[in-house]
Amino acid sequence: MWKLISGTVVILLVLDNASSKGLPSYLKLCKRRSGNLRTCVAENVELLRPHLKKGIPELFIPSMDPLIIPEATLNSGDQFKATFRNIEMYHAENFKVDTFNFDLDHHHVDAKLTFPLLRIKSNYNINGRLLILQLNGQGPADGNYTNVRASLSLKGTPFKKNNKEYIRWEKEKIDIGIEKSHLSFDRLFGDNAQLNEQTNRAINDNIDGIIQELQPVIQGVVSDFVFTIINRVFARYSVNELFIS
Ligand SMILES: *[C@@H]1O[C@H](CO)[C@@H](O)[C@H](O)[C@H]1NC(C)=O
Repeated sequence: MWKLISGTVVILLVLDNASSKGLPSYLKLCKRRSGNLRTCVAENVELLRPHLKKGIPELFIPSMDPLIIPEATLNSGDQFKATFRNIEMYHAENFKVDTFNFDLDHHHVDAKLTFPLLRIKSNYNINGRLLILQLNGQGPADGNYTNVRASLSLKGTPFKKNNKEYIRWEKEKIDIGIEKSHLSFDRLFGDNAQLNEQTNRAINDNIDGIIQELQPVIQGVVSDFVFTIINRVFARYSVNELFIS
């Protein structure tokens, strides 16, 4: 799931030089080496927030309500396999920046973000044993996740294009903690409404274990999204176009 978490880091990284060609004019400039980087970034997030829902073409940030992710899969050996398609993530634009540390000299970023609420819908296809539950089915899935905390480390590799320096970013680490979740899997047992309901109740009675199992999917989707966007922005703008020394 998620986000996600997402566009965020990108946004944060481009805030340094809003006067560069093509960057949105409503952004406030942050100094790269300022001790107040987190505060400055957080202020810019507030300035950006109203624009995030419909997307920011200048920053190559797609619409965030919902974010669309084509597919995510989970494979726990022979035991369990799940595929989620047409993933839609809602409310990601309401994230908060808890910490933000940026070291351009060593091409390194650490950030902590909180998403007060994420809602994620998809079409699931699951087969196998998840905790105590034997699940074989497919249909629409829905989930609400409260206070999703994402901790991200990004590592950059510099490269040259037309004599300008660019950076490509990779995931070094992503951790996600979720305070509270509620899931529903429609049609797990086809038309057997009673069995569907019982199973969904069992899933939510064991939600901590279930979320733990699904965690790789959640992290994968979030980081896919983050890095796709980041690398789009950084392929478009050179380091000097994005940052003031
Ligand atoms: C998620 O929250 C929405 C809005 O409150 C609600 O309509 C939906 O049923 C919830 N879904 C789940 C799986 O809890």
